[in-house]
Amino acid sequence: MQKIITPVSTLDGTITLPGDKSISHRSLIISAIAEGRSEIENLSPGQDVQSTRLCLESMGVEITDEEHIVVVNGVGLTGLKNPHKVLDIGNSGTTMRLISGVLAGQDFASVLTGDDSIKQRPMSRIIKPLRQMGVEISAKKDEYAPIKIQGGEVNAIEYQVPIASAQVKSCVMFAGLFAHGRTVINEKAVTRDHSELMLSRFGASVQKEGLRVSVDGPARLQPQQVFVPGDISSAAYFIAAALLVPDGSLLVKNVGINPTRRALLELLADLGADIDIINVRTIENELMADLFVKHSKLKGMKIEGAVIPQVIDELPILAVLATQAEGVTEISDAEELRFKESDRLRSMSFNLQRMGATVKEKKDGLIIEGNASLIGAEIETFHDHRIAMSFAIAGLVANSETHIKGANCANISYPDFYNILEEITQN
Ligand code: S3P
Repeated sequence: MQKIITPVSTLDGTITLPGDKSISHRSLIISAIAEGRSEIENLSPGQDVQSTRLCLESMGVEITDEEHIVVVNGVGLTGLKNPHKVLDIGNSGTTMRLISGVLAGQDFASVLTGDDSIKQRPMSRIIKPLRQMGVEISAKKDEYAPIKIQGGEVNAIEYQVPIASAQVKSCVMFAGLFAHGRTVINEKAVTRDHSELMLSRFGASVQKEGLRVSVDGPARLQPQQVFVPGDISSAAYFIAAALLVPDGSLLVKNVGINPTRRALLELLADLGADIDIINVRTIENELMADLFVKHSKLKGMKIEGAVIPQVIDELPILAVLATQAEGVTEISDAEELRFKESDRLRSMSFNLQRMGATVKEKKDGLIIEGNASLIGAEIETFHDHRIAMSFAIAGLVANSETHIKGANCANISYPDFYNILEEITQN
């Protein structure tokens, strides 16, 4: 599908967001290995979370939709059934890395694979710690899917994660649920802590001190009711749209502002964005707020260091914002972007240059000149949802139509994205 984006001069409205993708994956997986019926409200409708659901269903977990909730009948820690087929996790790196931790402790062998993009994404980052935990695991070139995991006994270890990755941390934590004793994980930098928060809620013994997280096994998880806050990574596109469009003003409701995820808002405030954070409340261990965003003149800045893992999914849209800011923006320490659904440093510089922006690609980041006059162009999404959505927003302030090729990859995280965009730009 090709989407045509027409430039606009006004944008307004009130929107609510689909459930956070990261929290949704965790809510399904943790509910599946809890003992009994959990209820999840506002689960992400994206294809990635659907991949997690299908995977769990093919291992005997009963998951049903009831009015506004999804009901998961948890089978207990070791109650998953041999799927007797290859588990296809589609495009979802989170599914593959998180579920591997749970498969490590089952009494059967499983094989995980996915689409062409997944088969090129690095998996040694979970293979290494799982092997240290005594798990038999193999992969193509010891790096790529398909991955084969022979479940069984899991040993508690202390692990220093060499990259800042919440997926790796979560994989080791999930495997640690099966071990006898305490599994300790030392993080390189702060990453999203949804696994810690949700496991605690389900009754696991989780300790956290600075960059050191631990979990005690074997765990018994008690089913819960979960409300998934709106996804701040999805909100980022509409926040950016309201900031960029001359007459923009937008109320974004129920946004998850977990302290490990809200660095976007702090960065935007430093860039000069006018965003009011209102109605802050805690819902089941997670913080949520409404955001009132108004068109603002932004300035360029350096984005680097410890903040990078906390805005890792928002860097593409931040790069779009940088083209419209006053001065130069330099993103560094972000080499991890090369290992996402596409090589996002490449995808961003390629498409921004097509739109006439001046961008230099570095090994670990981008240098973007501000005050660019963007021209309507044909955008290559490289099958990456965050690239498609970022350039749909860039197209709003271009001088002519922007054509997003393969635009439906937005369904990975946000199936309703283009409808909402149309609603708030119709005037
Ligand atoms: C995620 C962690 C991040 C992020 C991804 C979701 C998670 O990946 O980019 O979209 O839910 O744990 P890494 O752990 O690879 O940095």
